[in-house]
Amino acid sequence: MTATPIFSKGLEGIIVAESRLSKVDGQAGRLTYCGYDIADLAAHASFEEVAHLLWNLRLPNAAELAELKKNLNARMALPPDLLAQMKLYPRTAHPMAVLRTAVSASGLYDPLAEDNSPEANRQKALTITARIPTILAAWMRIRAGQEPLAPLTGDVKLAENFLYMATGQTPDPTAVEAVDRYMILLADHEMNASTFTSRAVTSTNSDMYSAVTAAIGSLKGPLHGGAIEAAMKMFLEIQDSGLTLQEWFQQVRAGSRRIMGIGHRIYKTEDPRARILRDYARTLAEKTGHGHIYQIAYDLEQIARSDPYFVERNLYPNVDYYSGLALYVVGIPVDMLTTMFAMSRVVGWTAHIMEQAADNRLMRPKAQYVGEMGLTYTPIEQR
Ligand code: ACO
Repeated sequence: MTATPIFSKGLEGIIVAESRLSKVDGQAGRLTYCGYDIADLAAHASFEEVAHLLWNLRLPNAAELAELKKNLNARMALPPDLLAQMKLYPRTAHPMAVLRTAVSASGLYDPLAEDNSPEANRQKALTITARIPTILAAWMRIRAGQEPLAPLTGDVKLAENFLYMATGQTPDPTAVEAVDRYMILLADHEMNASTFTSRAVTSTNSDMYSAVTAAIGSLKGPLHGGAIEAAMKMFLEIQDSGLTLQEWFQQVRAGSRRIMGIGHRIYKTEDPRARILRDYARTLAEKTGHGHIYQIAYDLEQIARSDPYFVERNLYPNVDYYSGLALYVVGIPVDMLTTMFAMSRVVGWTAHIMEQAADNRLMRPKAQYVGEMGLTYTPIEQR
């Protein structure tokens, strides 16, 4: 089929795949996973239930959930050679660069790495999802000069195991709940930049490790997942600047910077995840004695939302505005925040990879050539 070429910078408005996984209604501000509203899932489900939903298009029964948790738990330990390699990484490396490298390297130790059969892909989705919390916790300890810890075994949520492995302490239930809820809200989001990246890599019949590694690279950018870290840094910068919020906001009005965590390509109303995370961040901040930093974020949102520039452009907080704050106040370091996004979104990426592989067509867009034509080669000594 030769379609009439359409030029769409940033692929805006282009549908590249049919999907049963999640749906974003940007006008109504609604997000659903396989038909379930995100608010319903965040209020009642666990991250593991949501993972089952996205991988199987239905919620698990009790036996299936127990089996899934057991299966994930059994895959959390890292190959010793991978841990040995990680100890050689520069401790100053950005945690997203470490995650990208370690996920790619972990494929070297998976005998199924090059097997693209549906069953192998299901196994790899479990392995990669289970290993990411261990990689991140190990890195937090390695860079602090501590030995990585083995995961807890038994009926332990991924969120709880991550916090245990990172700190060596039995985690506070508030922190476990914060990470688990966050992970539910971030597990999938239709066709965003990193998901598209994972599907584009899959469309060449490449393997799941390559697709997830590429997706991590895409998520790292501050216009996408990196905004969670950038937003939190911005709140801390405001706190330390000695400026009033109105004074700080003048830099935004002068056009020299953007408010990170505000604006979205699809949502032209409030991002439904931001609505849930705002309430959640407030409760957690008050509970942990961080009410002042929540107040900065909240007051800045009010200033932006009443400013004509933001009103005219329908600019509202996106998921990254309050989510970094919710995680920061329960002890997640600022430079680890984007990795928490990846720890959650890996479920969405792997679900999309399997969906793409099941009904594949090589993604091969076109470019509109705007360069010169008809030039003649000039020998180098005449240039
Ligand atoms: N602060 C100030 N102005 C903004 C912001 C912002 N955060 N976001 C958009 N604008 C302005 C732009 O300057 C532009 O103004 P103009 O019409 O005068 O040129 C207008 O709003 C539209 O902006 P675009 O960048 O064209 O909108 P797009 O839909 O491409 O961008 C994006 C969406 C990239 C998310 C943008 O809003 C942004 O940069 N936000 C900050 C980064 C961020 O929070 N990213 C996370 C996104 S959610 C996620 O990936 C999980």
